[in-house]
Amino acid sequence: MSLAFPLAPEPEFEDHEAGRLLFAGPVDFIKGVVAMSGLPSADRLEVCFAGRSNVGKSSLINALTGRKSLARASNTPGRTQEINYFALGDNRYLVDLPGYGYAEAPVAIVAKWQALLKSYLAGRQTLRRAFVLVDTRHGVKAVDEEILTLLDRSAVTFQVVMTKADKVSRAERDQAIAQVQGALVKHPAAYNELVVTSSETGDGIETLRAIIATLV
Ligand code: GTP
Ligand code: MG
Repeated sequence: MSLAFPLAPEPEFEDHEAGRLLFAGPVDFIKGVVAMSGLPSADRLEVCFAGRSNVGKSSLINALTGRKSLARASNTPGRTQEINYFALGDNRYLVDLPGYGYAEAPVAIVAKWQALLKSYLAGRQTLRRAFVLVDTRHGVKAVDEEILTLLDRSAVTFQVVMTKADKVSRAERDQAIAQVQGALVKHPAAYNELVVTSSETGDGIETLRAIIATLV
């Protein structure tokens, strides 16, 4: 395994416990935002989940929070079209973003939500870290590069979370990890660890909870 962008280690006991406790507490849907002016006031830290359409952002939020349908997940790409805010306890937000790279919806609508996504990623002061989800079957694609570059320019630290690990063999998984590691070398805003997850089997979910707990 390469030295750059290794897999996040298993959390230490205390971080694991902090993650478990944080996500065992209340999580409430706050609002769906369709314009920057609709963002909740920036009075607490937040982390967001970005990634191509259908990569598994909403499913990951459901897996993290242990709630089956808190965030609306769907087989239809383009399901999440608003910036959805969830309060995690009293002083943190989890943010589910619309996907990018999806061309099947009406052009004007897609353009609108993509512009919102970009404004949010570039301009949210309380955004502590962007988790950028990458499908383990596909690796980092050209549309991802565009978002990663935007995050570099905006100096928003991002961490890649690989999703749907249950759908590939061990060998395919390792190949995808190597591809992602290669792509991240060019991105100064990339956090130096990856997390491989499956919302289906729960793989990597406890690790990600611990990471979020230490962040916010
Ligand atoms: P948009 O909101 O459209 O951008 O999609 P999204 O990134 O929120 O994806 P969503 O969570 O809606 O998941 C898309 C599809 O992938 C759904 O059919 C999920 O059930 C499936 N899926 C998500 N995560 C996993 C996973 O870890 N394993 C498997 N096997 N399927 C998954
Ligand atoms: Mg979604």
